[in-house]
Amino acid sequence: MAPISRIGILTGGGDAPGLNAVIRAVVKTAHNSGITCIGLEDSFDGLLEEHGRSHVLTTEDVRGIMRLGGTILGTVNSGNPFEAVVATSDGPRPYADRCVEMFHRMGLDALVAIGGDGTLLIAQQFAERSIPIVGVPKTIDNDIVGTTICFGFDTAVAFATDAIDRLHTTAEAHRRIIVVEVMGRYAGWIALHAGVAGGADAILIPEIPFDLSKVASQLMHREKSGARFSIVVVAEGAFPADGKLALLEEARAGHVERLGGIGAQVASALGHLTGKETRSVVLGHLQRGGAPTSYDRVLATRFGAKAVDLVRQRCFGMMVSYAPPDIIARPFGDVVGKTKTVRRDSDLLLAAKALGVAFGD
Ligand code: F6P
Repeated sequence: MAPISRIGILTGGGDAPGLNAVIRAVVKTAHNSGITCIGLEDSFDGLLEEHGRSHVLTTEDVRGIMRLGGTILGTVNSGNPFEAVVATSDGPRPYADRCVEMFHRMGLDALVAIGGDGTLLIAQQFAERSIPIVGVPKTIDNDIVGTTICFGFDTAVAFATDAIDRLHTTAEAHRRIIVVEVMGRYAGWIALHAGVAGGADAILIPEIPFDLSKVASQLMHREKSGARFSIVVVAEGAFPADGKLALLEEARAGHVERLGGIGAQVASALGHLTGKETRSVVLGHLQRGGAPTSYDRVLATRFGAKAVDLVRQRCFGMMVSYAPPDIIARPFGDVVGKTKTVRRDSDLLLAAKALGVAFGD
């Protein structure tokens, strides 16, 4: 079998700090193994045209990008296009057929797809169409099954922790309750870690539907013991036991629903229940921007190097994964379509409860 000499690399889904560090690691490792990397723009869409949406990535192209947030390849976060129909010069074609055809026309031997659950699902579908493909897991939410941690998570938690530290001083000065809404669509990893690191008094996560009257009474109890302010961290996907998810936008064709607004709802309700002045802050996409932490740079670099290793060994249909202390590979089938959530008996959650943090349960 001819050796692997030309691979495509793409980034899909919402961006996460560390994407560029993975790209750099893939390009440099591949280069040192005699493999040429083709950067595909805007996720799998980079495969729709033979020219114009892809280009050779040299080691010069990736110089200095490790510390940059975002992705030099661009990305899209708009659902699964696998069965969509696209316009081509030969007329309308099914998206997947067009990508497979272009993969071969571009002379690619394999693909490295860096992305979250949606991108990994598409990668699995291409693997089932005999495209040699390796996945690299990415999400600040840290909810991908099969890897202990994803790059981007540490940066998001560090940013949210810094925000909580800053909010502490103003909350204390004004004796207010400040509610901080963080990302976390299906899982409360960012809320739990940043909440604990920032010394929050209540942490509300999607895994534990909350009762605000319980949160309010814990905060008032805290008030009686001398603390006249409180910090509440709420994940965007958290919801009341007797209510529903807060949405900014309903799901529509090709797009998942946009979450947001739970922080303001919680602040308003806690204001009524406690009689205290409340404010809310949404950290939003600030959590996804900026330079990756050194931890994320190292993890992303290890993931990128491992992805090239898998390609060279022709271990396709696999996702690289962190299983401390090692970087290993897991089959797409073991990880795709599942969500890693915070367990109610996890030691961090139990430790937070033991410290008196309210979860509203
Ligand atoms: O999955 C990562 C994430 O940041 C979620 O926490 C959030 O709900 C979503 O992406 C937002 O995506 P977009 O930027 O496409 O609105």
